Amino acid sequence: MSVDLSTRYLGLQLRSPIVASAAPHNAEPVMAARLERAGVGAIVLPSLFEEEILAEEIGLTESLEQGTEQFAEALSYFPAVDSFIGAADRYLASLRKVKARTTIPIIASLNASTAGGWVHHARAIQDAGADALELNLYHVAADPKRSAAEMEAADLELIAAVRGAVTIPFAVKIGPYYSALAHFAAAAAEAGAEGLVLFNRFYQPDIDLESGDVVPRLQLSEASELRLPLRWIAILRPQFGPAVSLAMTSGVRTGTDVAKVLMVGADVVMMTSALLRDGPDHARTVEAGLRAWMTEHEYVSVDQLRGSASAERVSDPAAFERANYMATLRSWTTPPQLTSAAPARRPG
Ligand SMILES: Cc1cc2nc3c(=O)[nH]c(=O)nc-3n(C[C@H](O)[C@H](O)[C@H](O)COP(=O)(O)O)c2cc1C
Repeated sequence: MSVDLSTRYLGLQLRSPIVASAAPHNAEPVMAARLERAGVGAIVLPSLFEEEILAEEIGLTESLEQGTEQFAEALSYFPAVDSFIGAADRYLASLRKVKARTTIPIIASLNASTAGGWVHHARAIQDAGADALELNLYHVAADPKRSAAEMEAADLELIAAVRGAVTIPFAVKIGPYYSALAHFAAAAAEAGAEGLVLFNRFYQPDIDLESGDVVPRLQLSEASELRLPLRWIAILRPQFGPAVSLAMTSGVRTGTDVAKVLMVGADVVMMTSALLRDGPDHARTVEAGLRAWMTEHEYVSVDQLRGSASAERVSDPAAFERANYMATLRSWTTPPQLTSAAPARRPG
């Protein structure tokens, strides 16, 4: 039996629901070509960070100012400016190269830090040929003077501004830390996002015990991280019509993981950690696993499988929500040796 893996995401037709999510190596044309050969349906490039662009510009200005203090001729001659290729230019150049080496949709990703930056860079990315865009909304709400409502309103404003500035489709990649996630998700779609990517992973800093410094420590994901976005895709799928795409990212490693996520209603399932651990060809193994599982369970297409276990289709929808909490706690069984009386200690 042949299985049709094709799916639609952000209005794009994909040969497979397995997508390589944002990661640095995806911007290398050779790696992107390998991912395509391994069968992924689309590739998301790493984020263009406006913070990096601004830091480089400040660095360049500072070095030019130092130059003018020391050498009079530097006032009229700035070789550093001529040879300066900023982060944005490098990003757009690699987007063009990846597009030239591949035929599948290439989704660029943007994390801007100023309102104007989101619009400006989104336009530049569109002009460089991206098929779609992912807006990477990543912030830690640490300012006690800014309420959740204010922060959400600012994000919705920028989604609307990007919608007004580009014609390519875009999704918003969000984290799970919203008090009312379903409400924000609906508002993001209303503001113009064609899709949502659940969830951004928030990398927690660590402390170096010797230096006392705060250090970034990136850890690849664990399989158990799949459960949080799985639940939310199941809840959100029935709340959105097919016009809003849902992508899942976090903890996916195998073909059966992909089957689960499609069953709860995702349009695409994204992977980074598994591809970093096992290499880009792992995508082929995952696809083979998905095909084998679908064949064994007599599913002929992703369209047929999608949403078959979402909150509106399962017999007990509350299992995805509050009731699940108590059932989960009660499902734990403590090994008997831990609860039996401890053997009496013999005196020293
Ligand atoms: C090394 C590395 C770099 C990443 N860079 C980005 C990035 O630039 N933008 C982004 O939105 N996500 C980035 N991510 C997050 C991934 O796209 C993905 O959402 C996350 O790792 C969860 O998926 P996984 O469990 O398959 O790894 C990065 C992840 C890793 C491991």
